[in-house]
Amino acid sequence: MKNIKAIIFDAYGTLFDVNSAAERCKGKIGDKWENFANYWRTTQLEYTWLRSLMKRHKDFWQITEDSLEKSMKIFKIDVSMKNELLDLYKILQTYPEVSEILKNLKYKNYKLAILSNGTPSLLKELVESNNLNELFDDIFSIEEVGIYKPDSKVYDIPIKKYSIKKDEVVYLSANTWDVSGGGNYGYNSIWVNRNNNFFDKLDYSAKNEIKSLNGLLDIIK
Ligand code: LAC
Repeated sequence: MKNIKAIIFDAYGTLFDVNSAAERCKGKIGDKWENFANYWRTTQLEYTWLRSLMKRHKDFWQITEDSLEKSMKIFKIDVSMKNELLDLYKILQTYPEVSEILKNLKYKNYKLAILSNGTPSLLKELVESNNLNELFDDIFSIEEVGIYKPDSKVYDIPIKKYSIKKDEVVYLSANTWDVSGGGNYGYNSIWVNRNNNFFDKLDYSAKNEIKSLNGLLDIIK
């Protein structure tokens, strides 16, 4: 890919492992921890889309808590675990290759940014708890526009900030619908297919598919 000025990353599921909060509690939750984590994540995303459509915005932290409460009921997880799971969600771990790849990109003169549904304070804490604070030029939150992905107002944020063209952006997400959202908007969207998944039928084919961020350096050189 040529003429790329900014490399922009989705946060949850792409840089930070959304299942790592439940996984750290698997001793207490038992074998169902992974199904529970997936259900929590799916419900959380559904709430973002539903609230955007209903025009009843709540921030991502409140949505994370609301979706957790429902998921805990469905999976019969004791309410006493709620605060522990929420605290762990604030310090989700990165996937193993993330820090090294970002350090590598940092010296190549691209703008490096996060564009996420997360609130500014949540994203700050995630980045700091994983020692990534020096690596990003910007951390963009949808709170700036008050509506969730995949609304085009969200993907507009870095375009306006950097005064660049949509096709000068490489956008990376592990969330297939977000790859399509950014791609339909006009970004060069790359799918980080971490879980050997199938892609969506939403009028967009990812420009590239990689298994982890390790594949990125070959694409944008
Ligand atoms: C985010 C969600 C979509 O970080 O993963 O915006």
